[in-house]
Amino acid sequence: MDETFITLEYKDNELHLIDQRLLPNEYTMFRCANYRDVEFAIRDMVVRGAPAIGAVAAFGVLMAAKEFEPIYRTASPQEFRKKLGDACAFLDAARPTAVNLHWALQRMLQKLDTSGWDSMERILAGLEQEADCIRSEDIATNKAMARVGNDIVPHKATILTHCNTGALATAGWGTALGVIKEAFYGGKDIFVYADETRPRFQGARLTAWELMQAGIPSKLIPDSVAATLIRDGKIDLVILGGDRVAANGDVCNKIGTFMLSALCKLYGVPFYSVVPVSTIDFTIANGADIPIEERDAEEITHPGGVPVAPAGMQVYNPAFDVTPHQHVTGIITEKGILYPPYDKHIEELRIALGGM
Ligand code: MRU
Repeated sequence: MDETFITLEYKDNELHLIDQRLLPNEYTMFRCANYRDVEFAIRDMVVRGAPAIGAVAAFGVLMAAKEFEPIYRTASPQEFRKKLGDACAFLDAARPTAVNLHWALQRMLQKLDTSGWDSMERILAGLEQEADCIRSEDIATNKAMARVGNDIVPHKATILTHCNTGALATAGWGTALGVIKEAFYGGKDIFVYADETRPRFQGARLTAWELMQAGIPSKLIPDSVAATLIRDGKIDLVILGGDRVAANGDVCNKIGTFMLSALCKLYGVPFYSVVPVSTIDFTIANGADIPIEERDAEEITHPGGVPVAPAGMQVYNPAFDVTPHQHVTGIITEKGILYPPYDKHIEELRIALGGM
């Protein structure tokens, strides 16, 4: 089910990505020939979504290692390691908020440092295996979260979601949209309202596309309609993703999420975030410390390249916001659903995972 498209594929030394900037009008593949192309693809949002950018960056490290192979041979393994560390820092800076990017890069560097330095063949084979592991584990994780999350979806439910959390935002299947698909394919009577998700329209362009492909009954709404639907009792639950979860359960996600969470709190609507454990940043005590990406003014003044604001107007364009943990009903992970008190349960999870 829903294996209709492959969001990222590494073949013939190149990384192939669906160019998400062009969907739904054009289905075109974007080819990354080197790690600089990978950095561009992440920064320019050819590919986006927390788990997807992590998996893509992992292949970027592999491509950088291949490019630096002559340094290993003619200079020294130490020089090679330094160059690769610099390439990771370069990739890491492409987007600052989603912790999965940093997590995947750290995992690749750790693999490098434990692969043994005696042979370049061994290093490259280890890195390729690790990148592919990150990719395939992500799909398995998403499917596990879908099964876990299905438990909280009633047999008949109208769900509101925000941004894109489907296969496109991951290596496959999706996080929050994965839960919704699991419930729908399992025979539940599901209706989805998808926020258009300004200013980049991930909801209108990507979630709507995925919902239609999956055949899930749904309607696209302007972001500002969500308040009325929630007040009028038309929404049974809100399910969305997350880009970084702090140790106290604060959830950083696409801009507009906080507003939805406040409405849910006000009107008693359950509010769930679906995140793999790799999205939990155990090192960050609370959401106030999460770096929030600010994007170009043109995203607001020139949506789709069309000018809509007076020339020279100042813009404030944060791409994410933080939902306080008090607004979050539950955090769905592949290890189960976390409920309040989040600080206690996240700490227990950290210890269960071996003290990450
Ligand atoms: O700016 P984007 O499109 O990368 O933002 C994506 C989101 O905010 C998603 O909700 C989040 O990554 C979780 S979905 C896997």
